[in-house]
Amino acid sequence: MEKKNLDWSNIGFGYVQTDKRYVSNFKDGAWDEGGLTDDANVVLNECAGVLQYAQTVFEGMKAYTTEQGKTVIFRPDLNAERMVQSAKRLEMPVFPEDRFVDAVVQTVKANEAYVPPYGTGATLYIRPYMFGTNPVIGVKPADEYQFRVFGTPVGPYFKGGVKPLTIKVSDFDRAAPHGSGHIKAGLNYAMSMHAIVTAHQEGFDENLYLDAATRTNVEETGGANFLFVTKDGKLVTPKSNSILPSITRRSLVYVAKEYLGMEVEERTVPFAEVKEFAECGLCGTAAVISPVGKIVDHGNEICFSSGMTDMGPVTKKLYDTLTGIQMGRIEAPKGWI
Ligand code: COI
Repeated sequence: MEKKNLDWSNIGFGYVQTDKRYVSNFKDGAWDEGGLTDDANVVLNECAGVLQYAQTVFEGMKAYTTEQGKTVIFRPDLNAERMVQSAKRLEMPVFPEDRFVDAVVQTVKANEAYVPPYGTGATLYIRPYMFGTNPVIGVKPADEYQFRVFGTPVGPYFKGGVKPLTIKVSDFDRAAPHGSGHIKAGLNYAMSMHAIVTAHQEGFDENLYLDAATRTNVEETGGANFLFVTKDGKLVTPKSNSILPSITRRSLVYVAKEYLGMEVEERTVPFAEVKEFAECGLCGTAAVISPVGKIVDHGNEICFSSGMTDMGPVTKKLYDTLTGIQMGRIEAPKGWI
């Protein structure tokens, strides 16, 4: 397969239009057979459910070129499962999980020339999504939907690659205790835009959201989950009903226990405890593992000594093992690739 002539090693996290995308439509209570198309544009009625009331959910995963030169996709079955949960919460029809995986595979195969070569640090980011298409003016679910999948080659999510991030404790809330923070709805990300722009204007890379009910516990950043490493080498990651259950985080918890023999705690993490941790990182499909150097809470700085200039040693081990599995350098658990 001849690859496209792109500057793979310098690619950012942006949209590059690829050749083919998958589309399936839901009408009269059923999904059509679906298939690939060249058309990257979506034409909608002015009153479409997605435009009026943001009835849309999405997913994100990646395809990689392994050391052996094969194209692989990381755990798409878990994205399929998560999209079912997201769709149900927004009263959308479920796109069958086996068809979801097939649509992803078809999209990657049709765009193999855009899957970045091994060793470039870039990957093909895959974005499945679904939205209400027919006119809806009263607040109710749409009757018709479109499910689509496209791919775009991407580099690191955060500018500067693995340069440690500086994070602000946000005064905004991301998700309510019984709200929609645990699903991948576009609306969760829309309502984080103002907080992100504000944080950037103040010189921060990202926001740390506290739980909305008590404002005492660490939740997530909006685009990624938190990982902490204790001084005695334990992995700690927040557990909460209002954070997005990251597939990367689930995979890292497994890798920490089964590959690295680490102790892992998934639990409530009081913000007051954060200053005791040795290392901090953000994890997600887009973020992979991005080291955090500093968290600032209204002028009070918490610095992670190992993270100020580089990735901490435990974070690095987790990163190397996970990316080793994804790139075919380390044997993957059954069903991950
Ligand atoms: C992902 O990691 O796939 C996400 O959806 C996060 C988004 C901020 C790009």
